[in-house]
Amino acid sequence: MILHERTLQLVIFVPKKSNFLKKREKTFLIITYCVMSEELQPSKKIIFSGMQPTNQLMLGNYIGALRQWVGFQDSYKGIFSVVDLHALTIRPNPALLRKQTLDFIAMYIATGIDPEKSIVFVQSHVPEHSQLTWVLNCFAQMGECSKMTQYKEKSEKFSQNVGLFTYPVLMAADILLYQTDVVPVGADQKQHLELARNLAERFNGTYSPTFVVPEPFIPEEGARIMSLQEPTKKMSKSDENPRATIFLTDTADEIRSKIKRAVTDSGTTITYDESRPAISNLLTIYSVATGRPIKEIEQEFNGVGFETFKKELGEQLVTFLKPFSERYTEIRSQKDFLNDVMATGAKNAQNIARKTLRKVYKKIGLTEIE
Ligand code: TRP
Repeated sequence: MILHERTLQLVIFVPKKSNFLKKREKTFLIITYCVMSEELQPSKKIIFSGMQPTNQLMLGNYIGALRQWVGFQDSYKGIFSVVDLHALTIRPNPALLRKQTLDFIAMYIATGIDPEKSIVFVQSHVPEHSQLTWVLNCFAQMGECSKMTQYKEKSEKFSQNVGLFTYPVLMAADILLYQTDVVPVGADQKQHLELARNLAERFNGTYSPTFVVPEPFIPEEGARIMSLQEPTKKMSKSDENPRATIFLTDTADEIRSKIKRAVTDSGTTITYDESRPAISNLLTIYSVATGRPIKEIEQEFNGVGFETFKKELGEQLVTFLKPFSERYTEIRSQKDFLNDVMATGAKNAQNIARKTLRKVYKKIGLTEIE
């Protein structure tokens, strides 16, 4: 808070130019007021999440993550990052990485993340993420990191680089730097979050309370969006088959065509049934796009063939995604605006991150220049 003479006048009605209080007394009163007013307005809880700028954001990211983030924005202080350092673990093409980082910032905003309310930033713009990662690396155990399911899966695919191994430690740094209370993540990230909690507790226990121990927020099942080509697998932005995924940047014709070619199960009825994952997934998507319950949709399409259903689903999905793609196209072309968002986001994020890192450095015995 900025200390103003006016603040004092407002609070205790001291007339301007009065010599009623000495300078030192005024300072004392102002500080007391500031401390009290901060206490009177307990700050909002902090929510942090991030996504890697690989490929493009897709329907599952919106339903499973972005939609929740948008909903959290008013009751929490939202901090949302595009985690480009994480993306390095799969050594992406540099030009694509650079482009997709901006694509993601634009899509966060297009789907409703408000950079005036929340902090929106790019991970590599706040060097404290890398700095805290190093410290936390020295607290994480080899065993803890090597048992991570995602590490085992990815290291088979992308060669065993050390970045993949220490990836969850970077994620812990992301979360702990901001004294995060709640982390909305998919179920596949629960193990990583558990590591963040363990590292926070370990550090707090070794020194003194330094980090808030974060809680996961895992959205309820139900609206899990599956691949259009292999409906037992989650829809993924990095699926090798682009027809498996509805990207938020897809054109209307691409959406229609992907739905038309989506695989279906044996049987002809349009009913939700776990033993028929393909049609169940399409019904889930229909329900998400229209906001209507699955039961009602089943009734509407009772006796109707797959082709008609898919055609209608394609149209509903195009209508649902249209506002996002329109806003996205507009925002993505505004380079100066995107730059301003990144600059403000980085500055605000760093203001918080810096404080945490300074505390950490001090506690572990790194020297400060006085
Ligand atoms: N690892 C997460 C994923 O792939 C992305 C991520 C990085 C993240 N840092 C985070 C998510 C911090 C939540 C909080 O989905």
